[in-house]
Amino acid sequence: MADNEKITPSSQDPNVSSLSDFPDEIPNELPHQTKLIDRHAILEKSPTLLLTFSLLVVTIGGIVEIAPLFWLENTIEDVEGVRPYSPLELAGRDIYIREGCYVCHSQMIRPMRDEVERYGHYSLAAESKYDHPFQWGSKRTGPDLARVGGRYSDAWHVDHLRDPQSVVPESIMPKYEFLAETRIDGIHISDLLSTHRLVGVPYTDEQITEAKADFYAQANPEADWEGVVERYPGAVVANFDGQAQLTEMDALIAYLQILGTMVDFSTFTPDANR
Ligand code: HEC
Repeated sequence: MADNEKITPSSQDPNVSSLSDFPDEIPNELPHQTKLIDRHAILEKSPTLLLTFSLLVVTIGGIVEIAPLFWLENTIEDVEGVRPYSPLELAGRDIYIREGCYVCHSQMIRPMRDEVERYGHYSLAAESKYDHPFQWGSKRTGPDLARVGGRYSDAWHVDHLRDPQSVVPESIMPKYEFLAETRIDGIHISDLLSTHRLVGVPYTDEQITEAKADFYAQANPEADWEGVVERYPGAVVANFDGQAQLTEMDALIAYLQILGTMVDFSTFTPDANR
């Protein structure tokens, strides 16, 4: 600093306040630096104001972080193989939800070693992108079901759902024998598909018009089921419960058998650089 430059005494500096300006303050309190800090004290002294402004700040932060996810193209990385559920699988999924299977079973494999070794490749966001509502869950009274598809035969599922203790003696899972006795028809199945289309599942017009035929064909290997497999690649076509009539058991097993099987993990590599 040049010698001839005049130094403003702190008593005249508008940014610095001296003790004499605040005769009522505690003597060794830090000097007040700026007027802005003074205004912040108003917030700090009123719980209601502080709460209101904190909420405001959190809201702005939330909007900035969350809102773009709804518009960004790559929020969910597209993965080859993931397709909307076939009509029979979708009906089975509704039964799964109705029966509260999610109360005891999660459908999300976390990327941790114990889970990956037990259940298989960790779940990808894309694998539940057509789930409305998603079935991730957080309660595991029973095992995770995200990749149960193909792990057991249809006959095993029938036995297990009818009477879980007959195949796993220590099981505490309830019996769902009635599912094999409850017939279902596809009267409203195309409406179900349309409803899912309304919330963003890309069902085509063809899939919706063929929904009822596909619904029956998937559970009948003697029927003309080629269209089902064409429209829903990888769909399992079988008489799931072994009975002539179509039952809720058929639909539920069709759903269980597709879980976690849509993505081919022998060729899949996560695209981290997108
Ligand atoms: C009260 C909790 C409970 C409910 C509700 C429940 N489960 Fe289970 N589930 C279990 C338990 C515990 C096991 C492990 C023992 C066994 O295999 O039975 C299990 C096992 C399973 C398995 C075998 C999984 C594997 O990898 O071995 C399947 C499939 C299954 N449940 C499907 C269902 C379906 C479908 C529903 C709904 C209709 C359902 N569960 C409802 C508790 C439950």
